[in-house]
Amino acid sequence: MTAGTDDKPLTIRDIMSRKGGEKLVMVSAYDALFARISDEAGVDMVLVGDSLANTVAGLDSTLRVTLEQMIYHGASARRGCKRALLVVDMPFLTYQVSVEDAMRNCGRVMQETGAQAVKLEGGSAHIAEAVRAVVDLGVPVMGHLGFTPQSVHALGGARVQARGDEAAARLLEDAKRLEGAGAFSVVLELVPAAVAERVTKAVRVPTIGIGAGRGCDGQVLVLPDLLGLNEGFKPRFLKRYAELGEAARAAVRDFARETRSGDYPDDSHSF
Ligand code: KIV
Repeated sequence: MTAGTDDKPLTIRDIMSRKGGEKLVMVSAYDALFARISDEAGVDMVLVGDSLANTVAGLDSTLRVTLEQMIYHGASARRGCKRALLVVDMPFLTYQVSVEDAMRNCGRVMQETGAQAVKLEGGSAHIAEAVRAVVDLGVPVMGHLGFTPQSVHALGGARVQARGDEAAARLLEDAKRLEGAGAFSVVLELVPAAVAERVTKAVRVPTIGIGAGRGCDGQVLVLPDLLGLNEGFKPRFLKRYAELGEAARAAVRDFARETRSGDYPDDSHSF
């Protein structure tokens, strides 16, 4: 069965079974409207990413997003997904401080949004302990390595990570640690293609790349970016599949012009 043609909701097992097979497709979307469009287009996973800070909330970093905001967006996106598996990002400070925090907050996200999984950033022993506890709670966890936006200040900006042998070996070790802690997949962000391919071959769970070359088991893009709605954002890895920002401006301009000229509403748009 080709992806997108079977309406049965995807499960974690379906996602994991795609390791090394047909590439997984994930988009970051934050509400019912865009989750529905993505779901109908046949994506495998919708991620309610904390990238919503930068793309739709007008904030300068993901550190500014709260748990309540993620729950609101997660519950909204849930209403747009029929087949796609819904993953919700855990925001900064909700899983790093203690294992208890991680369990309670991840549990809340699952309970209050209806998501099927959560995503946590980082691969240190400390984060892996939280991942293990959350997985033991029965909550599937997606990891996130390479450039981890919640550490943007410590990393000195959105830069390619794992360059050089030592850094690449550390990334590989983190990926294996997350796999060992029970993560069902791992996002690799801003990682050299050769390193991402090595990690992908070394772990049994699917890797989902963004700015990590074609060797991963799947790809993720942020929906407003790929649609050309987030026009100022032009990293090398991003391919824009539409220019909806320009199309939206033109449509609103037409509405304004016709309203001012009296051409709208005409008889066919009146009762
Ligand atoms: O927040 C987000 O949208 C993400 C993806 C870019 C992986 O973490």
